[in-house]
Amino acid sequence: MDHNMCHVRHACAVVVMFSFIMSNPLVFFMVIGIGVHVLHAFPHTLLQPRKHDGFKTEEQFSERYFRQTVDHFNFNSMGNGTFSQRYLITDKYWMEGYGPIFFYTGNEGDIWEFASNAGFIAELAGQLRALVIFAEHRYYGRSLPFGTDSFGVPQIGLLTVEQALADYAVMIRELKQQLGAADCPVIVFGGSYGGMLSVYMRLKYPNLVAGALAASAPVLSTAGLGDSAQFFRDVTADFESIACECTDAVRGAFHQLRELAQHQEYSRIQTQFHLCKPPSSAEDIHQLNGMLRNAFTMMAMLDYPYSTHFMGNMPANPVKVACETMLSGPDLLSSLRNTAGIVYNSTGLLSCFDLYSLFVECADPTGCGLGPDSLAWDYQACTEIDLCYESNNVTDMFPPMAFTQRDRQLYCAKRWAVVPRPDWLKTQFWGDALSTASNIIFSNGDLDPWANGGVRKSLSSSLIAVNISGGAHHLDLRGSNDADPESVINARKTEADLIAQWVKMERTRSQRSLKSTYSPKVSRLSKSASWSI
Ligand SMILES: *[C@@H]1O[C@H](CO)[C@@H](O)[C@H](O)[C@H]1NC(C)=O
Ligand SMILES: *[C@@H]1O[C@H](CO)[C@@H](O)[C@H](O)[C@H]1NC(C)=O
Ligand SMILES: *[C@@H]1O[C@H](CO)[C@@H](O)[C@H](O)[C@H]1NC(C)=O
Ligand SMILES: *[C@@H]1O[C@H](CO)[C@@H](O)[C@H](O)[C@H]1NC(C)=O
Repeated sequence: MDHNMCHVRHACAVVVMFSFIMSNPLVFFMVIGIGVHVLHAFPHTLLQPRKHDGFKTEEQFSERYFRQTVDHFNFNSMGNGTFSQRYLITDKYWMEGYGPIFFYTGNEGDIWEFASNAGFIAELAGQLRALVIFAEHRYYGRSLPFGTDSFGVPQIGLLTVEQALADYAVMIRELKQQLGAADCPVIVFGGSYGGMLSVYMRLKYPNLVAGALAASAPVLSTAGLGDSAQFFRDVTADFESIACECTDAVRGAFHQLRELAQHQEYSRIQTQFHLCKPPSSAEDIHQLNGMLRNAFTMMAMLDYPYSTHFMGNMPANPVKVACETMLSGPDLLSSLRNTAGIVYNSTGLLSCFDLYSLFVECADPTGCGLGPDSLAWDYQACTEIDLCYESNNVTDMFPPMAFTQRDRQLYCAKRWAVVPRPDWLKTQFWGDALSTASNIIFSNGDLDPWANGGVRKSLSSSLIAVNISGGAHHLDLRGSNDADPESVINARKTEADLIAQWVKMERTRSQRSLKSTYSPKVSRLSKSASWSI
């Protein structure tokens, strides 16, 4: 994207934006809460009460543990060893023994975090009388196969997508037995990597899963299909759609930072950016750039129309708030610092930014978060999940920061003693050759930088792409809110209709297959066939 074009395309919007800021000195505000990734480091009991969409998630779900096989694929390595896998369950809406099962395929974090930010699933469970289960992904939250030793080599080696899917499959089978739900159709749900897992569950275990809602699931880009500049280009586009002045200001600020760094004006940089310690090397400047870029990434992903407490605390419309902040300070560097503060200093309590504790660089250039969950995600980004995104200061507004397959290989060898396999996900989970699958919804919001790494066009009458205009990262999974755009209300309605159809189809199918026995027609047909196997 040529940023000179921007002035032409958005000339009008810029004038409106400017007069808005001029006439309204209080347009920007800070929201009270805890800094973004810092949250990941805390056990969930330390978080403020989870009140979302009129109910407390904690009151709705009970927390349980499932005895899970540690290694599904090697009978010698761990024998019949098991670990405790956490899940949340509510039968509040369930028509016992008959209603469907809604199963959230947990992703890279504490399962409460996802349950608290996916109110749509409970709303739909109310309509379809479903049992709801949120399962925690192995190696995240409290589902650690080797306790605190889980993140060492070789214990970490049992963290794979395949093992996680097998966990969910085993859990679905056994819980159905235990709960007297043998005939209840199962629909899987997931957002982001959780959405990828929902897709894979339907591909791999159609015997157990009748359909999948994959919200904001970047199944293509993470399989190495796509363009390494796409992610940060799309982050930039969100800010550019507010005003060209906004992206110009961000570019200008990063340029000034680069000039200061080139002249090694480290104490000036410390003062401008309120850093706890002065930077003293090119590595420190790289870290600062990474931390700053990450703040923009978070605001683009979490650009919801109301304030949220998911992966940290965000004001309503954070991208707009960021642009207002970028365009209001006494100078560009202070503006950039204050803009990063929307993410890292949402409490207003930080006296300085500690470069290496607020942000940790890893094999995912879009951020791994902090704490033990971030170690597990780093390992996944080093093995199966390809996240080689770069910024380049041409198609995006950020300093050039490359992350090539070569960079990934070097980092991963050093950090985890593994060699990434960039082609594996394409082979194992079909890449973009998905057309023979069925009953999957791929929903994406156009504000979400992950969207263009996913499936944007329907692939068949049962592989449905849903677009949510004005939607950020899996907005559709969140509970209804007065500030919801019309598009997400419609998307949820489409999703509800499709899921109701799948549940019905599955009931019909399983009843038919119960009645039918092995058909003699089939054997006659195979006898008359001209080939033999
Ligand atoms: C694992 O196998 C051993 C012996 O083969 C048996 O004693 C033990 O009960 C088994 N454990 C589980 C959890 O099934
Ligand atoms: C955090 O916010 C408070 C309140 O706006 C401000 O006084 C403080 O300087 C900020 N901290 C940093 C590190 O910028
Ligand atoms: C981005 O590119 C422009 C020129 O195209 C350059 O002046 C500027 O310093 C670059 N910014 C960074 C942060 O590298
Ligand atoms: C969704 O939006 C994308 C990008 O604007 C477009 O290419 C695609 O055709 C749209 N898909 C549907 C199903 O409307």
